[in-house]
Amino acid sequence: MKLQNKVAIVTGASSGIGLAIAKLYAQEGVKVILSDIGVEAGEKAAKEIGENATFFSCDVSKSEKVDELVKFAEEKFGSLDIMVNNAGVGGLGGIIECSDEDWNRIISINLSGVFYGSRAAARYMKEKNIKGSIINISSILGTVGLEGTIAYCSAKGGVVQLTHAASLDLAKSGIRINAIAPGFIETNMTKDFLASEFGDMVRANTPMGYVGKPEDIAQAALYLADDNASSYVTGEVLHVDGGWRAR
Ligand SMILES: NC(=O)c1ccc[n+]([C@@H]2O[C@H](COP(=O)([O-])OP(=O)(O)OC[C@H]3O[C@@H](n4cnc5c(N)ncnc54)[C@H](O)[C@@H]3O)[C@@H](O)[C@H]2O)c1
Repeated sequence: MKLQNKVAIVTGASSGIGLAIAKLYAQEGVKVILSDIGVEAGEKAAKEIGENATFFSCDVSKSEKVDELVKFAEEKFGSLDIMVNNAGVGGLGGIIECSDEDWNRIISINLSGVFYGSRAAARYMKEKNIKGSIINISSILGTVGLEGTIAYCSAKGGVVQLTHAASLDLAKSGIRINAIAPGFIETNMTKDFLASEFGDMVRANTPMGYVGKPEDIAQAALYLADDNASSYVTGEVLHVDGGWRAR
């Protein structure tokens, strides 16, 4: 097991990419706190994973709840070595249509939520002298635009720059912070539009010709959490996208 006895928090872990990361970490010996606003699914998933997993309800757009989540990790498992800021929502609307309400909702979850999680984890790790790993889930839409998704692209681009800037603040403490930029992955967030004509456009424009699975992203999150495999990697944005961004 690669990460025996490490302690991780995964936000947005009740489904999709977050759940796949939590399951893979548990298989590799990590004690995992699954966190989400979806309480029923999260509790069920933690129970299925077993005694090394637990659930904590947390809305990542509330900074005080995110601070409580990090405190909970220490109370429950005595540490925090890996923080995965994965929780996110989709959202449509271009520069003309996007309302204040949609903008604020998407930014507060997809960007401020990542800031609160990165800050709470970094403060804790620095205070305890833990050379931990913080992993932020961005998107190919953090570095490439897609029409009709102004708030989502802005938030995910913000996650890229947050990760770059924070890596400089944390490098001397030995705390690594990286981002993963998934391409199109089949999850609850995407299954309807991947089943529509949009899905055909995605497959046609993905060099590998198919959409990815949550487990593809989980493997990248395992690499970035593993301080043997990725000890010299910080401030990096790892694209896992079937070649989308290489076009
Ligand atoms: N699926 C893709 O194609 C894709 C591509 C690029 C990036 N991403 C990113 O991956 C991450 C996971 O998405 P997914 O595809 O697994 O979707 P998903 O809908 O399956 O999972 C997202 C999870 O986040 C939770 N969540 C939503 N708002 C929350 C909040 N305020 N606080 C805490 N939890 C909250 C949801 O309850 C859900 O369990 C997101 O950040 C998403 O933007 C997904």
